[in-house]
Amino acid sequence: MGNQIKKVGILTGGGDCPGLNSVIYGIMLKAYDASIECVGILKGWKGFLKNQTIPLDIAEHDDLHTVGGTILYTSRTNPFREVSSKEERAKELAKKFEELGIDALIAIGGDDTLGVADNLYKLANAKVVGVPKTIDNDLAGTHYTFGFWSAVQLASNTIDNLTTTAHSHQRVFVVEIMGRDAGFLTMYSGISAGADIILIPETPFDLERDVIEVLKKRVNAGYKYHILVTSEGAYPSLESLNQDFKTISKENIEKLPKDTFGNPLLSTLKISQIIVDELNLRDDLKEEFQKNDVDFECRSVVLGHTMRAGTPNSFDRILGLRFGLAAMKLVLEGTFGNMVSLQGNKIKTVPLSEGVKKKYITPENDKMELRDLLVKIRYLSKQK
Ligand code: F6P
Repeated sequence: MGNQIKKVGILTGGGDCPGLNSVIYGIMLKAYDASIECVGILKGWKGFLKNQTIPLDIAEHDDLHTVGGTILYTSRTNPFREVSSKEERAKELAKKFEELGIDALIAIGGDDTLGVADNLYKLANAKVVGVPKTIDNDLAGTHYTFGFWSAVQLASNTIDNLTTTAHSHQRVFVVEIMGRDAGFLTMYSGISAGADIILIPETPFDLERDVIEVLKKRVNAGYKYHILVTSEGAYPSLESLNQDFKTISKENIEKLPKDTFGNPLLSTLKISQIIVDELNLRDDLKEEFQKNDVDFECRSVVLGHTMRAGTPNSFDRILGLRFGLAAMKLVLEGTFGNMVSLQGNKIKTVPLSEGVKKKYITPENDKMELRDLLVKIRYLSKQK
């Protein structure tokens, strides 16, 4: 089987993240050893449609695994969007393999990119292998995606750093963290940096109970500055939205674009600024701060794309290389329609259709308990 493969195409799709180049290098190492040529397809499925390729000569890319971003560029292009027949489209796309001169394709991407790969495999029997990628870490088929821990470290360092300015001015900082509708990035970086309040999409928050009451308890316990971290997709409970919010209403929210589950995309509103605006309207909160000789001042910081920037950390370099190696081995074995994944510390294989399902933080996750203890025990212990 393996000797039928002479040239392998590689593409990267979706948002970039540290570790993409590490995967590419892992593939190239194994391919070179097996005398297989690699070709880079540019800008994900966009370049695939336009036959945009570059040669990938390993001699020209020493230590590529240490470099952030992707040398192949990326785009969010779905060639199956708005087509009348998926089967026909899949067959057309499979013919591109010949035009591109590739015998197999390794697609590195998130649920969209790998969903296309799955359609190609299922509907046109194309020789595709997937490598899961997203800094959000919200893919069910793998315990971790590369890029996630680099992003957590960046966000955690920034939150650590913000404490000095928060301390100097005795301010409240509301830090907004990427992750769409999944809270992994916020939860891990918030716990790592010891944030005082952590809001994630999986547990809709109550402004009064989870923010205002906690800030009052903290300031009364002697704390002079406070760091609240919120996911870009964190969402108030409907009850809290109706009762506590003055600057947004159910009606505003209903007009927003919706995610795949039909939830309004609050990230388009910038939840961190909404929280700041709401807190600024609360005279009772300001009085509580003043009683403790602190002027109430609140600022929002959106970490945004800084979280995807820079070089991969060691974990992500090694995970990327391992994924690349494993993906190339699947090509050599002739096992297609699967993606590589990390289960515990082992690299395993799962069907693309299973692997790309979404995952969220579940209530039994010990990080939930840690978050709640971190918030509660600090002010309680100071009150004694
Ligand atoms: O899915 C990765 C991610 O970084 C999300 O956390 C974020 O909401 C989104 O991509 C941002 O997308 P873009 O780079 O297109 O602005």
